[in-house]
Amino acid sequence: MFTFDINEKDDLWCIEDPGFNEDSSKYYEGLLTQGNGYMHVRGSFEEGVRSVKQDEEYDRKPANVTLEKHKKQSSKWGTYIPGVVGKHPYLFTEIVNLPFFMAASFAVKDEDLDMEESDISEYERYLDMRDGTLVRRFVWNTKEGLKLKMEYFRFLSFADKHLAFSEIKITALSGEGDLSFRSGIDAGVRTNGFNHFENVLFTEDSDSISVSLKTNGGNSVLMSTKLFLSDAVETAVMQDLSRINYIGRKHLKTGECFVIHKVVAANADCDVEGGNMEARNVSGLYAVKKENLADYYEAHKKVWKNKWDDAEIKIVGDEKTEKALKFSTYHLLRADNDENPNVAICAKGYAGEAYCGRYFWDTEINMLPFFIHTNPQGAKNLLMFRYNTLAGAKRNARAYGYKGARFPWESSVSGEEECACWQYADHEIHVTADIVYAIMHYVKATGDRDFIKNYGIDIMVETARYWVDRVDKDMKGRYVLLSVMGPDEYLPMTNNNAYTNHMVKFALDTTVSCIEELKEKGEFDEIKSRLNITDEDMEAFKDVAANIKISFNKDTEIILQCDGFYDFADLDFSRIWKDRSRCFGEFISQEKNYRSKALKQADVLEMMMLFPDEFTRQQFISNYDYYEPITTHDSSLSAAVHGIIAARIGRDDVAMDFLKRVIDIDLSADKKGAEEGIHIANCGGLWQMVVYGFAGMKSGMWSDEVTFAPNLPEKWQQVIIPINWHGEKKRYVIDKNGFELR
Ligand code: BGC
Repeated sequence: MFTFDINEKDDLWCIEDPGFNEDSSKYYEGLLTQGNGYMHVRGSFEEGVRSVKQDEEYDRKPANVTLEKHKKQSSKWGTYIPGVVGKHPYLFTEIVNLPFFMAASFAVKDEDLDMEESDISEYERYLDMRDGTLVRRFVWNTKEGLKLKMEYFRFLSFADKHLAFSEIKITALSGEGDLSFRSGIDAGVRTNGFNHFENVLFTEDSDSISVSLKTNGGNSVLMSTKLFLSDAVETAVMQDLSRINYIGRKHLKTGECFVIHKVVAANADCDVEGGNMEARNVSGLYAVKKENLADYYEAHKKVWKNKWDDAEIKIVGDEKTEKALKFSTYHLLRADNDENPNVAICAKGYAGEAYCGRYFWDTEINMLPFFIHTNPQGAKNLLMFRYNTLAGAKRNARAYGYKGARFPWESSVSGEEECACWQYADHEIHVTADIVYAIMHYVKATGDRDFIKNYGIDIMVETARYWVDRVDKDMKGRYVLLSVMGPDEYLPMTNNNAYTNHMVKFALDTTVSCIEELKEKGEFDEIKSRLNITDEDMEAFKDVAANIKISFNKDTEIILQCDGFYDFADLDFSRIWKDRSRCFGEFISQEKNYRSKALKQADVLEMMMLFPDEFTRQQFISNYDYYEPITTHDSSLSAAVHGIIAARIGRDDVAMDFLKRVIDIDLSADKKGAEEGIHIANCGGLWQMVVYGFAGMKSGMWSDEVTFAPNLPEKWQQVIIPINWHGEKKRYVIDKNGFELR
């Protein structure tokens, strides 16, 4: 009887779920999300949780996501193919939660297997991050007296990204009886309580059953499944309104066992492969035979192994941090589809619907450094996503009444603004300049200067045109950016946010210098006529870059976050913020918050981290000391930035506190941060904290070679970091005395 040759469990690599609990079950579903870049499935039980209706409809209204209370339920199925979207009445374009193809349920007589109600013992469940497989084992003591050992194993193939596999092995430990099963695809799901499906159609042929559907966003999806059974058991196809299944019954006696293998193929009309979706689906599914199941698993494992070879960081002396970093790395690796330039990585890492599957600056600033140095092709495609949505960004600028291109604060697949809350949508414009920063970071670390000529320059020129139109002139003749929200979202409409102005200056200077370089290489003429670049454009780019208001230099002690920052009200945090385990924003009205000096996240410090050479050590210290006490870290992006700076200025204990905070954001079982998805920007943040903070790496934006100035925590004896630099894979060994290239 064939079963997959599963890895032996290794604690360093396995994330465990301690057992069903209605309060934590949804958290583990998010935490144990599986994926292969192309598709993602939350770690839900195959049989669901009986008391939860997955197709319940409700209104999710636009709200501040930091403070929003999500629907309380102990299970939320989530199956996502990035790029497959639907239209929501208030939330605009969102990713669609697709049918749950891992669905499989069991019953003995009238008793359904259910983690909440059944008599379960010896429960064990874990995600093995080495190869992204999910394992569940337990004993089901049925009311009939039949005692069954249930063993589940599943993976989404990284080698054949349209295929998923599962194995369920049932062994009768004692007793005798009939076990009935239903295994199929369940389309009874909703996205944020909304039904995006149109035309759901169930079909069957001699070997498989299928669900095809259209979303109200215009996408088509096809999912098919077939089973291989260890014994000749008769099956039938049964469907109801929302689900199509194979059903069957197996008589089991003590010592007997039965194995069900399930293969799923999923394809969508927006796939990069193009061509006929049905034909691709059929050929993928039919190539899988009972005899070659093992080969599919081997091929899948091999891809994961290569990915880990390029990305695994080892921390000798601190297994806890190493494991947390593996967790972050695992989710970054599975969330990225390095073959698809039409999608990026959504803020919840395709592990939940809190951010509707939207793309933020998180990709460019928090995640991109990881990909630049571990998978440049993946990094390139993340930037290509912005290039491919430039037309949408141009429409977006037009909609706001400006020239050029304005990237949306929240992007879906088109590049138009999708953020439903005006404060962010209208004012959080720094993302448009962040993208230019990210392009240069990629180019400097990879040496791929052709990227500028072929794609980057279009983004630079169009966004430069937007900035030229977006600035105003003050009485001193300086260019100012009025009514702006910086990275700190607790001050929504400020003038001359230091971060934004500096980033815009950088973007304009970069645009001008890239044009000069292209001219020198004789490559500018074609670009000039294609983008219709005039002398006036060039003058305006230079003029705004040279004269945009930058209110600090190397002598400024405290860099003001924005004009008049000191005038915002001071707050007595100890009086207001009664429970520090909850967000500060929960203890203050938005109105009061918006007129006070309470920061949601790093803002000036973020700028200093991205342009470290422009500031003195004393400026780092003074600004850290000024801003940290008034920063609430209500955003998950904040802790890592503070941790990096604390490590650099030698505040070792504080840096360790931030490290714990960063790790806890998703991994603390008390906080349950992963319920609505993984904080994937923070995953990139943890990587940066180890690499840029403790190991002190300088590269790319800040150095023409890779160097390290380590400030390792006391118990870290050695850190081993793989770094891709200009196309070469290098491995650095860092210890307290320095670093060595291996
Ligand atoms: C943060 C933003 C971030 C977004 C998505 C917000 O809470 O303030 O900086 O881009 O979440 O992660």
